[in-house]
Amino acid sequence: MEFSNAQPSLSLGFSTHMSSAPVTPTMADENMFRCSVSSSSSSSSSGVSVPLQLLDRKDEEVRVENGEVEYGEDEKFSILGHPMCLKRARDGSSFLPKNLPKRVFVESGIGGRRKSIPCWGNESMKVADPEIHEIMEKERQRQFRGIELIASENFVCKAVMEALGSHLTNKYSEGMPGARLYTGNQHIDQIELLCCERALAAFDLDSEKWGVNVQPYSCTSANFAVYTGLLLPSDRIMGLDSPSGGHLSHGYYTPSGKKVSAASIFFESLPYKVNPQTGYIDYDKLEEKALDFRPKILICGGSSYPREWDYARFRRIADKCGAILMCDMAHISGLVAAKECISPFDYCDVVTSTTHKSLRGPRGGIIFYRKGTRSRKHGEGNIHFDEDKINFAVFPALQGGPHNNHIAALAIALKQVATPEYKAYMQQVKKNAKALAFSLLRRKCRLVTGGTDNHLLLWDLTSLGLAGKNYEKVCEMCYITLNKCAIFGDSGAISPGGVRIGTPAMTSRGCLEADFETIADFLLRAAQITCIVQKEHGIMAKDFVKGLQNNKDISDLRNRVETFATQFAMPGFDI
Ligand SMILES: Cc1ncc(COP(=O)(O)O)c(C=O)c1O
Repeated sequence: MEFSNAQPSLSLGFSTHMSSAPVTPTMADENMFRCSVSSSSSSSSSGVSVPLQLLDRKDEEVRVENGEVEYGEDEKFSILGHPMCLKRARDGSSFLPKNLPKRVFVESGIGGRRKSIPCWGNESMKVADPEIHEIMEKERQRQFRGIELIASENFVCKAVMEALGSHLTNKYSEGMPGARLYTGNQHIDQIELLCCERALAAFDLDSEKWGVNVQPYSCTSANFAVYTGLLLPSDRIMGLDSPSGGHLSHGYYTPSGKKVSAASIFFESLPYKVNPQTGYIDYDKLEEKALDFRPKILICGGSSYPREWDYARFRRIADKCGAILMCDMAHISGLVAAKECISPFDYCDVVTSTTHKSLRGPRGGIIFYRKGTRSRKHGEGNIHFDEDKINFAVFPALQGGPHNNHIAALAIALKQVATPEYKAYMQQVKKNAKALAFSLLRRKCRLVTGGTDNHLLLWDLTSLGLAGKNYEKVCEMCYITLNKCAIFGDSGAISPGGVRIGTPAMTSRGCLEADFETIADFLLRAAQITCIVQKEHGIMAKDFVKGLQNNKDISDLRNRVETFATQFAMPGFDI
């Protein structure tokens, strides 16, 4: 029979209907994919459910040992196309064969123990999977040889990598410290509590006033957990439009109305925008829109915004419409921790972040929330703001077990964040961004908003007649990674007419202002090359790429970039 047609009275692996003691699977059982099955039809006469054995057909030859187990009629069916047999033992008490193989340790100590695990357990990656190993080695070389200018990337330290690749990945720990679903979590609890403590310390937060959840797998899921915890389906949210520098997880639908982000699928989102002339957020328009739309959550923070956020203004607007004010500080959390920008914590109810950008930790998300249950007046009703709702949204509503190796790695990164060295690092990140901006401006390049207050800048390539995508491609071929981004033109038309450039990663490799002057030279040379290829082959991507093969200008620049980049060390690994 097909699995989907299985008798509803059969329960695999669970024993809720059993009147006798359930059969507990042993390690030996697991090798054979067995489980107890209770069947009301099979137990009808005695009232005691009879344990059944589920065997893959090809295992049939191992089923009878010493004549102890006698099987009744086979019941045949399939799971995902695999033919299966359901075997019924007549005597449930003699379900297991007597002569199970026993482990004999002939050698003591680690040598003997190791032999109890076949080779899969202890081989290095190079031996176990040379294919993946080789690709990973190539990626290591790519990171070392190139100039990394993607504003959301960084290089983590060795200790963070060690925690990520550790035994902590083995443990399941759904729930919060002290209230887990599984046992054996005493050390995991300690790690998570320490991580939370360090998170609050890194941002100078009073634990009486702020709580933190370090379990989100990413910032997208952290943001969605906030919405899930605090809103009802179809409630309204308002964030910076993606083409204006906001993030998809704050809601996004295309001009044709296609809902791209889950935040827009499950909630109603209306974006606010930057002023197309200045590139700054248009706060007056935002206020007007917000008072009409009445969002329940107003979101500040974005992915490509080079200027300070006016949180005080956001707070006033949120208060006028009774909204919760949330900041997604993913990009600038390092600056916030180092007190190198205005702190959103002074104004917001909820603050989320990635942990892997300027913060320089492992990939993941984090949620800070003001403690206690509070209500905000919203129109006729109230929004109940309750910290437990956020934790509940993370688990069990949206996630399963936390990634404990990531949480330990985050704790390590947060310890660094609280040091004077990290503050100096963030100051250098800003100085480098300013130096790069100044170098480009000096050469008459156009930057959105005319400069930067933080770690990134947006270079508007439309005045040079370059397509962001073509420029990004040339840079990639020259070992420079950055990303195209939309620039609002006077007409309001959106096209990826620019690129976003960030300084955190190369600052982690030790670059200073003078190095960013050199990087500016490389960027300008790449722009010249793009211009030449566009002129010769056309701006359309399919024509443009024809001019890239065997291009001497590109190989020359690539050599210069590699020579430059390989002067700098890589945090976390040596080449
Ligand atoms: C502001 C902002 N929020 C959220 C995210 C999403 O982070 P994650 O990749 O961890 O989901 C990003 C990523 O770029 C971001 O810039």
